[in-house]
Amino acid sequence: MHTIRPRRLRVNGQIRSLIRETRLRVDDLIYPIFLVEGNKVKNEISALPGCYHFSIDMIGKEIEELVKLGINSVILFGVPDKKEELGSEAYKENGIVQKGIREIKKISRDIVVITDVCMCQYTDHGHCGIIENKMVNNDLTLKYLRRIALSHAEAGADMLAPSDMMDGRVGAIREELDQNGFNNISIMSYSAKYASAFYGPFRGVVNSAPQFGDRRTYQMDPSNSDEALRETELDIMEGADIVMVKPALSYLDIIRRIKDNFNVPIAAYNVSGEYAMIKAAAKMGLLEEKSAAIEMLTSIKRAGADIIITYFAKDLARWVMEGNV
Ligand code: PBG
Repeated sequence: MHTIRPRRLRVNGQIRSLIRETRLRVDDLIYPIFLVEGNKVKNEISALPGCYHFSIDMIGKEIEELVKLGINSVILFGVPDKKEELGSEAYKENGIVQKGIREIKKISRDIVVITDVCMCQYTDHGHCGIIENKMVNNDLTLKYLRRIALSHAEAGADMLAPSDMMDGRVGAIREELDQNGFNNISIMSYSAKYASAFYGPFRGVVNSAPQFGDRRTYQMDPSNSDEALRETELDIMEGADIVMVKPALSYLDIIRRIKDNFNVPIAAYNVSGEYAMIKAAAKMGLLEEKSAAIEMLTSIKRAGADIIITYFAKDLARWVMEGNV
């Protein structure tokens, strides 16, 4: 018997490319953008090197750069000046995200504007909903999520991404949108969102760490996998157009199970801690940033993600343009 030689298909770059199973594409990426109040602000975020806080007047150049790089989708996060118990800055007509949506749409009609629908950046206690007796009250929170969603739709968002993990929020938001004539606005639901330590840098960026307790009464337990299927199934039944797994890296198995069990597009959120780890290790000379980032992003796609939300989007687009991705 002759030796079976899988190495034949690895002898050079061209053959390896011919049989490559997973490819990263720039148009599968969503780039997160952080908006702050004020003027002329473009401040690099120390926890997320290469990412910035932008005031609305500075967003134009960034959008033009994204368009040039071939990145067609952004997800907006607002960092309001004022936070209070009911998070009212989140659903104001002239809130930071609502202004951002209108400004971006003025610059480019084509860029897909997705918004994070949640309360934690807007509440002084830092939880993702309305507090009653030291607990987030689910059904009361739904009323506020409806208002946030509607205000984003009215400002011109293309897609809403509820990240609060309240029960029934996809159905409530879908109903609110449809009742108000926004049946073409889609919902990308953070379906399997885990209570993760990897959100650390993000919470610093938007100043949203909970002031008491933690998020484990609404975000999922990292030990669970069947429950992710149940959450995903519920979101699809309630009307989610795209489902999401978050974080990505420690949850590649969850991405794969959802891919094998459902028939809707899957997004994965390559979260702030996953980005910051590579940046920090590269800075210390421990690994090579580009190869590590490409390997990580490729693993997320190989696991089954159709869409990746990542702070590496601009870097990846540049690497793709230079070739050899
Ligand atoms: C808001 C929200 C969070 C992230 C996205 N939306 C933080 C959280 O739930 O604490 C995390 C994003 C990241 O870490 O990159 N609910």
